[in-house]
Amino acid sequence: MSEKILRAGVFGWPVEHSKSPKLHGFWLNRYGVDGSYVLLPARPEDFESEVRRLAAAGWRGANVTIPHKEAALSLADRATDRARAIGAANTLIFDEGEIVADNTDGFGFIENVRAGSPWRSDRPAAILGAGGAARAIIWSLIEAGAPEIRLTNRTRDRAMRLADELRPKVRIIDWDDRASGLDGAGLIVNTTSLGMTGQPPLELDLSVAPPDAVATDIVYTPLITPFLTAARARDLPVVDGLGMLLHQARPGFEAWFGVAPEVDDALREVILAS
Ligand code: ATR
Repeated sequence: MSEKILRAGVFGWPVEHSKSPKLHGFWLNRYGVDGSYVLLPARPEDFESEVRRLAAAGWRGANVTIPHKEAALSLADRATDRARAIGAANTLIFDEGEIVADNTDGFGFIENVRAGSPWRSDRPAAILGAGGAARAIIWSLIEAGAPEIRLTNRTRDRAMRLADELRPKVRIIDWDDRASGLDGAGLIVNTTSLGMTGQPPLELDLSVAPPDAVATDIVYTPLITPFLTAARARDLPVVDGLGMLLHQARPGFEAWFGVAPEVDDALREVILAS
């Protein structure tokens, strides 16, 4: 069954905080698409049946956020290589009854860094944190040609598990020794929740970082975290985390609505104000 209005949305639980409706709504309006993008709150036990119901009803697809990202991958009929490698999906595309899973988080990360800085992908990258975001980012950095990933995490075991899956390019560095991973690095990435409003700041001695190492944070509330403030004080190029959210949305919008959307300052302003 096909509908005139192209429909998509974002699944999560809770999902009220999601900025995705604002983001896709901005693009729908800008490109004059006859489409809609809505919040899709779904409890874990209802997620799969809700996805199948919308796919059968002719919806175009959906974004997926916490806690459904792994379930989204396992229920899909097909998955992109990057979704399979990352082990989670943030984007579902309904293709004539088939459910296709993709993961665009790493794509969003790389596009944001490339758009916002003179990043040298041929140098080692230092990653702080080993959660779900780190997994997507590390995978995309390896794909982009980073010769070495220096991974440090408060809980070393978690970093080791991630490194086991993504080796051989990942080297573990002790959390207490984390500053040493910045020596010769081209990119320094905070994927921990440190620096988020209400959380303690990330403490990181930047003195051994090369003067052109790019500093970036996946935290975007506040937009400029204490880590990015410290990087700016040392004149390092800095990329804030909001752009990752904006860029990860591009492949889904294009697949559902048929237009390749652009990230620009007008979009940033709208999302920042929301
Ligand atoms: P996500 O999957 O979204 O990346 P997560 O699994 O909650 O989020 O991961 C949060 C990251 O922030 C982890 O790397 C976590 O370190 P642990 O694995 O040791 O828990 C890190 N983190 C959170 N609070 C921290 C703190 N106070 N000090 C150091 N690292 C912290």
